[in-house]
Amino acid sequence: MKLTDDILTVLRERTAIDGTHLVLTGPRMDPKLYQRVNEVLEAVGGRWTTGEQAHVFPVNAADALAPVLESGQAVTLREKRQSAQYFPTPSAVVQRLVDLAGIEPGMEVLEPSAGSGAIATAAAKAGAVVDCIERDPGYAAVLTDTGIARTLTVADFLTVPARPCYSRIIMNPPFTKGADMQHVEHALRFLEPDGLLVSVMSWTVTTETRATAKFRALVEARGGTVEAVASRAFRESGTDVPTVIVAIPATRPADAKPTAWPLRETPANAEPEDFRDPATIAREIADNLREATRIMDELARDLALPISRATPATADVIHLPDTPQEQLAFDLGEAS
Ligand SMILES: C[S@@+](CC[C@H](N)C(=O)[O-])C[C@H]1O[C@@H](n2cnc3c(N)ncnc32)[C@H](O)[C@@H]1O
Repeated sequence: MKLTDDILTVLRERTAIDGTHLVLTGPRMDPKLYQRVNEVLEAVGGRWTTGEQAHVFPVNAADALAPVLESGQAVTLREKRQSAQYFPTPSAVVQRLVDLAGIEPGMEVLEPSAGSGAIATAAAKAGAVVDCIERDPGYAAVLTDTGIARTLTVADFLTVPARPCYSRIIMNPPFTKGADMQHVEHALRFLEPDGLLVSVMSWTVTTETRATAKFRALVEARGGTVEAVASRAFRESGTDVPTVIVAIPATRPADAKPTAWPLRETPANAEPEDFRDPATIAREIADNLREATRIMDELARDLALPISRATPATADVIHLPDTPQEQLAFDLGEAS
């Protein structure tokens, strides 16, 4: 949203910042103005923390606020949810990721695009010790609120140097322009030799193109598995983008089978998209037959043949030049 002057004045002139802490100074603010200022602070990661009597950020507060002050714009958490790139993983998909990952208590797990923590929270509940990385300070703050992460790094994951120390990586990265393949390839470098990565990915990776060739070869070389996610699984998160879940071991298992790429979506509980009422279809067939009959009758008239099917008496019939009188009488009689 574009920030109004009163919000910008507060952010520029009524804030005292000390590292991760921001305090609003001056006289008590109109509650409505405070609410709007607070929404902006939350969007960039600030959380009012009573114990600290300050908005506390997961990063340096001045750094978090700088882009907002410079542009006069902020993307609120609500707006981010509506825009592409943030689709919290629905619980059924999260459960499948956790099951495929085979998470056991005490396992060290990395979630490298953690958002507000849908997957990380489930992994922690399964007993894992979870480290999170998230680029957006606003989501990082939401994740901090949950208190489930052992560590949370606010950074672009693709710039984080790899440390091969995790038994599991579980993720649902951004998809735009093949970003999911980039993220998964980088994430594999964080696995221990007997580790396993499980990721939601775009359906695009199942298709054989130049853009997917390297990634597909990697999955096949490692003995990875790929399964389709039900076609409407992400609808509750605001998208119908088709997805798969890809599981890739750090080392190819001795008993690995060839990777089977799903050929098409296999939606669970699919309703036929183009279901049509049988009565409507029957009406359409009857209309088509009537039209075909009319065309045949016209053809018959043009050929000056006796009309075999009567139509309601019209001047057309009378105008037929060569129709024998008896036949005409018969046809008109049939029609009545
Ligand atoms: C599809 S959402 C998934 C969020 C979370 N994993 C979940 O399942 O609910 C993708 C997340 O990746 C984050 N993200 C995008 N690019 C990133 C990057 N380069 N480094 C770290 N996080 C990134 C976005 O901010 C967003 O929170």
